[in-house]
Amino acid sequence: MIQIAVFASGAGSNAQKLIEYFRGHAQIRISLIVCNKPGAGILQIAAKEQIPSLLIEKERFFKEDAYTSALKAAQIDFIVLAGFLWKVPPVLINAYPQRIVNIHPALLPKFGGKGMYGHFVHEAVIAAGEKQSGISIHYIDEVYDHGNIIFQCSCEITAGETPETLAKKIQLLEHAHYAPVIERIAQLQNQR
Ligand code: GRF
Repeated sequence: MIQIAVFASGAGSNAQKLIEYFRGHAQIRISLIVCNKPGAGILQIAAKEQIPSLLIEKERFFKEDAYTSALKAAQIDFIVLAGFLWKVPPVLINAYPQRIVNIHPALLPKFGGKGMYGHFVHEAVIAAGEKQSGISIHYIDEVYDHGNIIFQCSCEITAGETPETLAKKIQLLEHAHYAPVIERIAQLQNQR
């Protein structure tokens, strides 16, 4: 069984989709939810789905082992970020080489980096007069939104598009593609 930890700190709609997709899966299990925000929606989802959750603290994440020992003890093979805004420290990246994946709500390398999250991304895309936007699924490295891109797909920006309407289009793409892409790469990596 390939065991995945989902790191999420927001509403958790992507995490919810991942949980639904992998429920009862023969090879892949979402076995831990990691969150840095007490009270985040994702924690209620974890409780309802009966998936263990781990509430993490800044001090240990950035100044100590970044919970690497806890993740290894829980036999986590893969880490999937879904709305997790803290930068992943080198100690964790080195413990999970090419095994930490993020999803970004724009076509990287444009519209990425620190501060580029949520509605800020869609506002910037529209303000720049882009004709299309999309999603990027990529490995994590030590620079925000920078690691190798695994998958992208796009949507048109139509006349009168607002950050809110664009956010809805992007969310549909995220919900449709994140789980199958993770399924593919987790299985591929596992064969190595
Ligand atoms: C998604 O838009 C994702 O691209 C970004 O954070 C958002 C998370 O939303 N990294 P949700 O918490 O899954 O609803």
